[in-house]
Amino acid sequence: MTYPAERTTTLGLLDTFFISSLRIKVSRIASLSNLNSFYILNFLKLSLGLVIAASTMLPLPAGAAENSSPDFGRDVMPILSGNCFSCHGADANKREAKLRLDLREDAVADRDGYQVIMPGNSEMSELIHMITEEYDEDRMPPPEKGPRLTEAQINILRQWIDSGAEYKPHWAFVPAQRSQLPPVSKKRWVKSPIDQFVLAQLEFEKLSPAKPASRETLVRRAYLDLTGLPPSPEDSATFVADKSRDAWARLVEKLLASPQYGERWGRHWLDVARYADSSGFETVYRTYSRES
Ligand code: HEC
Repeated sequence: MTYPAERTTTLGLLDTFFISSLRIKVSRIASLSNLNSFYILNFLKLSLGLVIAASTMLPLPAGAAENSSPDFGRDVMPILSGNCFSCHGADANKREAKLRLDLREDAVADRDGYQVIMPGNSEMSELIHMITEEYDEDRMPPPEKGPRLTEAQINILRQWIDSGAEYKPHWAFVPAQRSQLPPVSKKRWVKSPIDQFVLAQLEFEKLSPAKPASRETLVRRAYLDLTGLPPSPEDSATFVADKSRDAWARLVEKLLASPQYGERWGRHWLDVARYADSSGFETVYRTYSRES
């Protein structure tokens, strides 16, 4: 079974949507007040692996990562699985030219004096010759099976091979790594590492952080964000009157511990889990488990 290109694209969009909505959530929560990172981290922790993995992908301000090499899972894998694996993948019965492109050792193996992929050298890689072949009848994928790869796709494969043609497991299986903090100028505003990501993007957009909100606004935002419901007048009044230093901390703790928090965010995480089901488990199963 193969992944048609439209499907990969839709999933790519979903992925982007998910990451950016996460970013908005984090930044909204961060801007509820000059709140310290503890609560945000708590919020992230509760959302387990998916969020941890996603948070490592919090984009640096646009432009910061321009010249990095393509990412295998995000950029390369969709091209290969959508266009090539039906004939050069795990299924031995459908395999052509005794070539597997889903396994690095096979793709880079010596084939009597040349290599399909020569890591670090796209010019010498047969794969690049085949996808850029001038004559339609000789190119890959075969003309009756699919259109030519686009210039952008070809460039991604070139850059990936030139930068070493590393294969990486699906991101869900790669341990989360701490991201490097982006540089910011208004350092004094930052109270937690997550603030720094938010501020970097604000500075990139030439925006200043908003002033801290009033207590009435804060309590309303906390309730709506974490439980989906506004506070009762009593809850609101209690918080507004509570001038102790940890009032905000206790409010957030209380909301995180409430069943309504789980109900509200459970809906969102179930959508994400459904995504992981079709583009995580299934893909990984197909690619990495079915050796034949
Ligand atoms: C519909 C089946 C099919 C698809 C899809 C397909 N190929 Fe092929 N491929 C073949 C066949 C058949 C051959 C052997 C015939 C030939 O060499 O012309 C081959 C040969 C090759 C070779 C040469 C192997 C050698 O020993 O020199 C390369 C490289 C290659 N394909 C790369 C790709 C790439 C990259 C893609 C995806 C962009 C792709 N193929 C998609 C069927 C396919």
